[in-house]
Amino acid sequence: MKYSLWVIGMESLLFALYLLGYDAITDLKSIRDSADALTRRSRVNEFLKRYPESEHRAAVYEAGALACFELSDTATGLYMARQSLEVYPENPLLTSTMAAVLRNRGDEKGAREYASLARRYLNLFRPKHWEALRPSMEATIEKILGPAPPRQTPVAGQYAGTASCRGCHKLEFDAWGQTGMAKMFRPENSAKREYVEIGLRRYPVDARIGSKWQEAYATKAPDGKLHVLPLQFNKLLGKWVNYWRMIDPPHLDRGDPNLFHQFREVTEYQTNCAPCHTSQWGPKESKEPGINCEMCHGPGLEHSRGKPLRKLSAEESVAVCAQCHAQSAIRTIRAEFPPRYERRPYTDFAQNTFHPNGRFKETTFLVEAFERSACYRKGNATCASCHDPHPKNGKVNQKGLKYAIDDDAMCTQCHKQKHDESARCVECHMPKTMNALLFVARTHQIEKRPLK
Ligand code: HEC
Ligand code: HEC
Ligand code: HEC
Ligand code: HEC
Ligand code: HEC
Ligand code: HEC
Ligand code: HEC
Repeated sequence: MKYSLWVIGMESLLFALYLLGYDAITDLKSIRDSADALTRRSRVNEFLKRYPESEHRAAVYEAGALACFELSDTATGLYMARQSLEVYPENPLLTSTMAAVLRNRGDEKGAREYASLARRYLNLFRPKHWEALRPSMEATIEKILGPAPPRQTPVAGQYAGTASCRGCHKLEFDAWGQTGMAKMFRPENSAKREYVEIGLRRYPVDARIGSKWQEAYATKAPDGKLHVLPLQFNKLLGKWVNYWRMIDPPHLDRGDPNLFHQFREVTEYQTNCAPCHTSQWGPKESKEPGINCEMCHGPGLEHSRGKPLRKLSAEESVAVCAQCHAQSAIRTIRAEFPPRYERRPYTDFAQNTFHPNGRFKETTFLVEAFERSACYRKGNATCASCHDPHPKNGKVNQKGLKYAIDDDAMCTQCHKQKHDESARCVECHMPKTMNALLFVARTHQIEKRPLK
């Protein structure tokens, strides 16, 4: 056991340094360069003293934890490991190592908790640089949790189309029709066509995307493909914005209005927007505009002829929403329901995606933030615990909340014990720390240590 831990330790350290990239400060290099754990531990301590707020501290604490485990300084090792995971939790190497350490100490409950986290991360992310270590991590996990349960079989079946649901589910159908998700994409078919002018060129508006906070416009290129204009109208600000200029990193020129007339691939609607803004997507066209019933409930032809729908687990239910509300999903496999997406490791994203404490800053990572919450991991909370995607009052309830935003019942449906009545639960546990479309949104990472 000790030996295999040590192997994981060394590899993990290399992984940590991989995360840091080659611009790592010399101190970090010196951590790697020392084969001997005692030196590594003291260099980690030095580093942390010098740069306590370093953006690299997840990796440095990880290296420290592994050095400590090697030295049988378990208490400090566990402390450092928790510090690392506090900033960057999705680390199968560290969580599986911790599981093994805790089990050695006789903490069976803790071991199981970390082993199941490690198993989740291994299933969710499959980057190449983890592959060499995967077998040893899986072996550690299996020793603690037993063999992985077989995956629920996906739903087989055909799509029926929204119109076919209406007859038996009129309430949901009508309510859904009021939501932004239903009205997402609207082809322009009135005779009075509008135009957007960019410089000396005029482009007819052939479709509109979005309806509530912001509206984007698309025009047909000579080859018949829809292209999205860089200018969008923001209703909150009451003005036009070049949205891509706002969100893209500086080296991308997607938002350059002077290049739009080239109708490049980066502005093409079907490839870049339709995967999240239409239903039953295909590379050339989608079956329906907007997000339809079967995107969330799965293929429904057999059901509409009498076969009950299969119940989804909490994980599957969140995966349904993750199709579009997760930024890191690699959107290539479309055939299965419930959908399964591999995720890009979060370290692939720009540093400014995160707050210095490791929390997600952009609401495009809404699902990723939620999945870090114990309410989901331990309590099987799902998006549907708080949201009804077809609310009866959709016109006024634009976020489809089941309870009013200031209603603690959202939380007390599961947490019976009240401990602080000075404010609403969400004020402390879902503070406004995320950037949305030009407003500051509540985080979906619900945790013990409320953050401002
Ligand atoms: C012929 C009538 C009929 C049609 C058409 C129909 N349903 Fe249903 N649906 C039912 C009945 C009856 C139930 C309740 C019993 C059950 O779960 O099968 C139900 C239940 C459901 C549920 C709840 C399942 C649960 O376990 O809570 C969902 C979701 C649903 N339908 C979605 C759809 C969708 C989407 C369509 C269109 C593709 C559709 N239905 C078409 C009759 C129908
Ligand atoms: C990864 C999935 C995804 C992709 C790809 C995507 N969007 Fe979105 N988009 C969303 C989600 C989710 C929302 C809702 C955000 C929210 O409410 O927090 C949204 C919201 C919007 C809105 C605001 C809607 C409103 O009613 O106010 C507009 C406009 C929009 N997207 C345009 C686009 C365009 C144009 C593209 C392609 C260039 C695109 N989106 C690509 C997921 C996506
Ligand atoms: C964005 C995802 C989404 C879309 C789109 C959607 N649903 Fe649902 N639907 C859900 C979720 C999530 C639930 C479970 C709600 C809950 O647990 O309270 C649900 C529940 C239901 C139920 C069970 C009754 C209930 O209210 O609990 C029916 C029936 C249903 N949906 C039908 C439809 C039909 C018909 C459409 C299209 C007209 C549709 N849904 C569109 C996500 C969606
Ligand atoms: C196929 C992509 C897709 C899927 C799947 C999806 N959404 Fe959305 N969702 C969107 C887009 C795009 C918007 C923006 C719509 C708008 O605001 O105009 C949105 C908006 C929302 C909103 C803001 C309110 C609204 O209705 O406009 C909520 C809340 C929401 N989604 C929750 C969910 C939940 C919960 C699920 C899973 C049960 C889910 N979504 C599944 C794409 C999706
Ligand atoms: C579906 C049930 C459910 C819902 C809804 C829910 N939670 Fe939880 N939550 C849980 C469970 C279960 C745990 C884990 C408790 C444990 O560790 O013993 C938890 C853990 C927590 C924790 C401790 C987090 C940690 O890292 O230790 C906080 C804080 C919390 N919830 C607050 C909230 C708040 C605030 C809301 C409403 C916005 C909410 N929860 C909604 C089930 C839920
Ligand atoms: C414990 C309750 C709770 C759960 C669970 C939950 N939400 Fe939310 N959601 C909220 C609250 C509260 C807001 C903020 C409403 C406001 O500020 O107006 C919100 C807002 C949103 C919005 C609107 C954009 C924004 O950030 O204001 C979207 C989209 C959304 N949630 C999607 C989801 C998805 C997808 C899931 C599951 C991954 C989910 N929510 C899980 C409570 C919840
Ligand atoms: C004024 C801020 C504030 C408000 C309001 C608040 N909390 Fe907390 N909550 C905290 C703090 C701080 C902690 C951490 C306490 C600790 O670690 O001892 C915490 C801890 C928790 C925990 C974890 C408890 C544990 O012992 O593990 C849960 C669950 C929780 N809160 C739920 C709620 C719910 C539900 C509401 C609304 C009914 C709520 N909180 C309102 C600040 C707040």
